[in-house]
Amino acid sequence: MTTLRPFTCDDMYKFNNVNLDPLTETYGLSFYMQYLAHWPEYFQVAESPSGDIMGYIMGKAEGHGDNWHGHVTALTVSPDYRRLGLAASLMNFLEDVSERKRAYFVDLFVRVSNKVAINMYNNLGYIVYRTVLEYYSGDPDEDAYDMRKACSRDVKQKSVIPLTHPVRPEDID
Ligand SMILES: CC(C)(COP(=O)(O)OP(=O)(O)OC[C@H]1O[C@@H](n2cnc3c(N)ncnc32)[C@H](O)[C@@H]1OP(=O)(O)O)[C@@H](O)C(=O)NCCC(=O)NCCS
Repeated sequence: MTTLRPFTCDDMYKFNNVNLDPLTETYGLSFYMQYLAHWPEYFQVAESPSGDIMGYIMGKAEGHGDNWHGHVTALTVSPDYRRLGLAASLMNFLEDVSERKRAYFVDLFVRVSNKVAINMYNNLGYIVYRTVLEYYSGDPDEDAYDMRKACSRDVKQKSVIPLTHPVRPEDID
């Protein structure tokens, strides 16, 4: 059985099996601590009965006015536990938290080459809102899709009308 529970500091000693994935960003300790301190309700882990970390989601709430939204900063599932619906459950959890915070939408950034994740987000109801040019540094840099799903507060679904032109990272608010 899988347990969904809040992420704790100790989990940072145990999540290597998940973070070794090349599409999973590993951040500095202070970055995780900042999320734990500010948005603990958005940081959830899926744990196996034997105590393995199967996957986790880390996010936050941000923005002003009708840009108030939930944001997925990291979502990853260990290769051993994929296609079991874990990512869908973690996303569902984050969307529920965002609904309770009266957010207008949930968004995330994903590499344009990450077809598996883009397909999954599409299947969960997300659309490509805009392309962010050279969002990911590397050799070469890679563009990101900023994907969005409207929350119930956005009755007219204004937050998910796609932009017709790409933007640069410095233009993201
Ligand atoms: C993307 C990722 C999080 C999906 O995790 P997961 O737990 O396997 O996903 P789920 O089982 O919840 O899948 C939900 C749906 O997404 C789609 N999907 C997920 N993985 C898929 C795959 N490999 N091929 C095709 N569709 C896939 C399916 O529609 C699936 O529903 P179904 O199994 O009923 O058909 C996981 O592959 C991963 O951690 N990848 C590396 C990190 C990453 O890319 N994170 C996202 C960065 S933005």
